[in-house]
Formats: sequence, C-alpha cells, structure tokens
Amino acid sequence: MHLSIIQLSPVFGNIEKNIEKIRKLTEKIKKTDLIVLPELASTGYKFKDRDEAILLSERAQNSRYLEFLSELAAKNNCYVVSGFNEREKDKLYNSSVLMGPEGITGIYRKLHLFWDEKKIFEPGNLGLPVFDTEIGKIGMQICFDWMFPEAWRVLALKGAVLIAHPANLVLPYCQSVTPSYSLVNRLFIATANRIGTEEELTFTGNSVITNPIGQTIAYGHVDKEEIITAEIDLRLSANKKITPENDAFEDRRTDVYGNFGI
Ligand code: ACM
Repeated sequence: MHLSIIQLSPVFGNIEKNIEKIRKLTEKIKKTDLIVLPELASTGYKFKDRDEAILLSERAQNSRYLEFLSELAAKNNCYVVSGFNEREKDKLYNSSVLMGPEGITGIYRKLHLFWDEKKIFEPGNLGLPVFDTEIGKIGMQICFDWMFPEAWRVLALKGAVLIAHPANLVLPYCQSVTPSYSLVNRLFIATANRIGTEEELTFTGNSVITNPIGQTIAYGHVDKEEIITAEIDLRLSANKKITPENDAFEDRRTDVYGNFGI
C-alpha cells in the first residue's frame, strides 16, 4: 500500500487557508491509500489561551475541516489521518481523526498533554482504540504520546499494523525513538510532523516512516513543506518473530509485569 505524509507549516488561526494549503499539496499525490497530516493541522498550535482555542475549535460532527478531509478521502479513495482542535460540549481535546472514503472511521484524543496544552485541553477520554479499515488495523498517537511506550504497546497488542502519529514536535528526541517502537512492536509508524515557528516554538520537521524491523524508510527535511511517501507491505506487521525461537509478543513475561488489563 502507498503511504503519504504531508509535512507543512499551518497558518495559525486560519482553517480556510490551511485547507487550501493541504488541498494544493495533496493535488500532487497520484495514488495513495493513506495520508497522514500533523497535529492541529487545521489551526496551528500555540493558542494564546483557552478562550482563543475555543474560538478556533470545531465539533467533529459540524467541522469545516473534517468536511474537507472527508472530500479528500472520497476523491482519492483513501484514508486520511489528521490532528484537529476538537470541541465537545464545553471541553476541548487535542484530537486525531481517521477519515475514510465513507466518512469518520474513528477519533483518538491525545492522552499525554504537553506543557501549556494542560491549560487548554482535557486529557483524552477515548482510551486507545484501534480501527479496522480496508488496509488493516490502524491506531493513532499524537505528538508527546511518543514519550510513553506503554500506549504504543497497547495499540500493537490490540492488533494495530500501523500507528499514524500526527505531531508538532519541538524536542529533538522522538525521531530517534519511533524506529525502536516499530521494531519492538513489529509494526509501521508514520510520524507526520510540522515545520515552522510559532512564538518561541520551533517545530522540527523530519517526518518519518519506520518499518517493523526498525528501519527508517522515508524521512522529511527539517524545514520544507513536502510530501514524504513510502510503498509498504502491512502484512509484515503480522510477523512478531525475532528468531525461530523468539516471538516479540508470546515471549513477554506478563506473569511478572502484567498485561495492561488486556
Ligand atoms: C507536542 O506534544 N505537541 C510536543
């Protein structure tokens, strides 16, 4: 299957402009099965305060941005993952949608909030879902979730063959961690990071696709809006064997350290 990451610098606070930007970039894609966009791709990241974030938030069922993603998925007959600023009642979530050709397939809400996000968003309350799609089971993580290997393991144990990871990374560590998460969980990871700056924050680009043997198979520039692509075989994620006598999942000593309630 064909995977495409869109690395871009969203225009802060302007959903329409970001839709146009993403439309232009994705027009260059000829054939794809999955597009992954960064965290908060429709609004940008650095909200002045919660009031500003509320003004820029959208309900999943009534969202100009998700409507655009739905058109994008239908037009390309593909799935699209993107971060967005989700409002539900009076609460905000830093969320990621999995959009399919038929509409919303699933939503994940960021569990591990980073820095000032704690003043704006609620921690995710939808757990760690894995969504069954025509291309395989897909899980999602958002940016700082990279710090918590437990979450990635749970998605893998639930059968995810690929974890889509919209990000707005500012620390320099994540891109060196995800190849190992791919290796130990034997699955693909697509980290779609943004570029550019907002106030004191510089986002680190270098979006990355990693495979079940821990290889980085595609890598973006640090400061360029671009499409990063890879042709991948998701069937490789089914093989958890490391040697003929070792299986990454079956050899776990859950009697010693538990199994996350799974
Ligand atoms: C982050 O979680 N946006 C760094």
